Amino acid sequence: MKILVLGTGGREHGILEALRRTQHPDHPHELFAAPGNPGMARLAQCRAVDAGNPTAVVALAGELGVDLVVVGPEAPLVAGIADALREAGVPTVGPDAEAARLEGSKSFAKEVMTAAGVPTAEARVCTDEDSVPAALDAFATNAAGEAVPWVVKADGLAGGKGVVVTTDREEAQRHAADCIAKEGHVVVEEYLDGPEASVFCLLDGTSAIALPAAQDFKRAGDGDLGPNTGGMGAYSPLAWVPADLEAEVVRTIAQPVADEMARRGNPFVGVLYVGLALTAAGPRVVEFNVRFGDPDSQAVLARLTSPLAELLHATATGTLSDAAGPTFTDDAACVVVLAADGYPAAPVKGGQLTGIAEAEARGVTVLHAGTRTEDDRLLADGGRVLDVVARGADLAHARENAYAGLSLIDLPGGWARTDIAAEAAAGRITL
Ligand code: AMP
Ligand code: GLY
Repeated sequence: MKILVLGTGGREHGILEALRRTQHPDHPHELFAAPGNPGMARLAQCRAVDAGNPTAVVALAGELGVDLVVVGPEAPLVAGIADALREAGVPTVGPDAEAARLEGSKSFAKEVMTAAGVPTAEARVCTDEDSVPAALDAFATNAAGEAVPWVVKADGLAGGKGVVVTTDREEAQRHAADCIAKEGHVVVEEYLDGPEASVFCLLDGTSAIALPAAQDFKRAGDGDLGPNTGGMGAYSPLAWVPADLEAEVVRTIAQPVADEMARRGNPFVGVLYVGLALTAAGPRVVEFNVRFGDPDSQAVLARLTSPLAELLHATATGTLSDAAGPTFTDDAACVVVLAADGYPAAPVKGGQLTGIAEAEARGVTVLHAGTRTEDDRLLADGGRVLDVVARGADLAHARENAYAGLSLIDLPGGWARTDIAAEAAAGRITL
């Protein structure tokens, strides 16, 4: 198959790596990326086309004659890249702009979940500052009457910076006021108490399937302290979730959303990222994204043994129910992100990376998240620089292998969390 992957980061490198690894040896794919990165260039032809420019992307897909386009990040989807590709007759993994509002607008996502009967946090949309105190009062305590943090969310895409979870009422009120000033409204919702999991579901417009669950680490510091980031690490599968979690997510979340979007005339074709809190009352949706998670999908795809291209093509062409279900290794995978000095506040670019070949010789896969080349040197070019992906017979071994690989890589000032998957590997996450 001829496949074009849009994006620049570790997620897109991971998708290409999985496409290559699971291809039939007699029928290798022709892989392309736009714009790609130096790591992706080892697996695919990279084209300097802006993934956010529908005209340019449609022209490239036509020129290359691709059978499939996989859209990595959310911004081009929200801006309508998939609409343009589908209009040009190109099978595409990624929803149209209207369906991408499930990520692009938290209030739209709530409206769809309510209509579809999907379990999620109760929420109120406030359009003026005067209505915020009553909303904060409504969600100040849990069912047992105990005080819980407030959750205040900007409606639109905010790159992980739109959500405030706080026990400080003034901070909650202030964030709500900021959101109302910027967008005219704000979402205030019930606090969901419980460990979080990500389940990636493939929706072909009619049916839905789920991949094994993963967990990611959004905070910069060990012990989940410090500022939010794009994600500092991940692992899969999750030994601490009920064995039927993925099936339950399809039954109670993904399929009802697929049905509701189809009923509205906006069928969802692509990846529905279901962010869950596993509460005492059962799984509740924290958020939807409309693409694979980064770096959580790198952990999931590392264990895939069946052909990814066929699975994604079936997703894009409405034939998932006829396709063979995906299969996975029965071991574990762990991803540790190497970040640049100063990330997330002010990442320092330009540091030289060495030791990647040595790490890969030890059996890890190194995915490029933010790199560029200059005179044959590989340099850091973003906040999250590399993803070190390792498998192991169990999670403890997978994380040991990932950290052993990471220890061979050098980036001046570079840093990583030291506790990715540690609690889970020690069996300390319980429901
Ligand atoms: P979101 O952008 O909606 O994923 O929110 C970012 C993070 O805020 C989530 O990963 C959660 O850790 C936290 N969060 C969001 N909504 C809630 C909620 N209702 N209850 C508790 N934590 C939440
Ligand atoms: N890992 C979180 C995200 O991709 O949004």
